[in-house]
Amino acid sequence: MEKKITVIRGDGIGPEIVIEALRVLDRIAEKFGHRFVYQEILAGGSAIDACGTSLPEESLQKCLDCDSVLLGAVGGPKWDGVPKEIRPEAALLGIRSAMGLYANLRPARLFPQLADASPLKPEITRQGIDLMMVRELIGGAYFGEHRTGEENGELTAHDDMVYAEHEIERIARTAFEIARKRSSRLISVDKANVLDTSRLWRKVVHRVAADYPDVACTDMLVDNTAMQLVKNPSQFDVIVTENLFGDILSDEASMITGSIGMMASASLGEGTRGMYEPIHGSAPDIAGTDRANPIGTILSAAMMLRYSFGMSAEADCIEQAVSAVLDEGFRTADCMSEGCTLLGCKAMGEAICGKI
Ligand code: IPM
Ligand code: MG
Repeated sequence: MEKKITVIRGDGIGPEIVIEALRVLDRIAEKFGHRFVYQEILAGGSAIDACGTSLPEESLQKCLDCDSVLLGAVGGPKWDGVPKEIRPEAALLGIRSAMGLYANLRPARLFPQLADASPLKPEITRQGIDLMMVRELIGGAYFGEHRTGEENGELTAHDDMVYAEHEIERIARTAFEIARKRSSRLISVDKANVLDTSRLWRKVVHRVAADYPDVACTDMLVDNTAMQLVKNPSQFDVIVTENLFGDILSDEASMITGSIGMMASASLGEGTRGMYEPIHGSAPDIAGTDRANPIGTILSAAMMLRYSFGMSAEADCIEQAVSAVLDEGFRTADCMSEGCTLLGCKAMGEAICGKI
């Protein structure tokens, strides 16, 4: 098969981790007889520096004209002062929205080899952690009206949180379908004791649940979910929630598995085209030092093969290679523990390729 992949190296550690993911994709192409054609675009801080805006029109067009997008990370303190419309993060939100990527899948799995790296006590992690966070990605407070102005003699800020029924319904269906393929347990997270958007969320999720009698669906308030994730994470299988809650809970879910550097994500809409990125940020403090963990990006590339290209054997092959390298005790600095061998970003990419 031939696939056109739009590549955004991005800022901070972005370029280093993307190079390793491309190395792995090239190895897969060679082994399985595919051809991956990469078109590189600028987006985020590097685009601000080069073109004065974080998402040049030409970049956006190339996201719409490809089979999928692979992204490292965007942003950094360097661009903290730029107007909000052209901030690096605005590029990310702009691409998600223009591509219609409403479903963000963030698997959080504790690799048994990394159990020591989890900040939770062994008696909590012993039962394993393997959950899928399904986050609504193009609605809610992120995409409502934002404004700051003088009201009653002082500055006052508003961020409208808006959800329409169809936006809740489509993400709920995505989550029920995923739950069906896993253990048929779904937890829908909201704040229905306070927020109208959450009350509507709950109503629509219950309506959709009627079409999935085989899936056990339970509601959980977001504050309780944050607590349950550290108290008893093995109770979760599939979680579905709105954009802002999903942003926060997915960082928490990833950290309890040992390192946010390991975590991949897929963002999908109606078709098969998606955007794939690690869930961590651009880590400007370690950029250029070869200390980043490329595994989150490499596993994101595996998700691309699985979800957008229908290449499950190829995706399995990458995931097994990652596991094999961890089995041999190789670690990057973020999840290093005693007795293991420390590798830099490049050496980790090469080690994974060596197992494919
Ligand atoms: C994420 C990130 C982004 C988000 C930021 C960079 C806009 O935190 O993908 O989780 O909040 O969605
Ligand atoms: Mg986030």
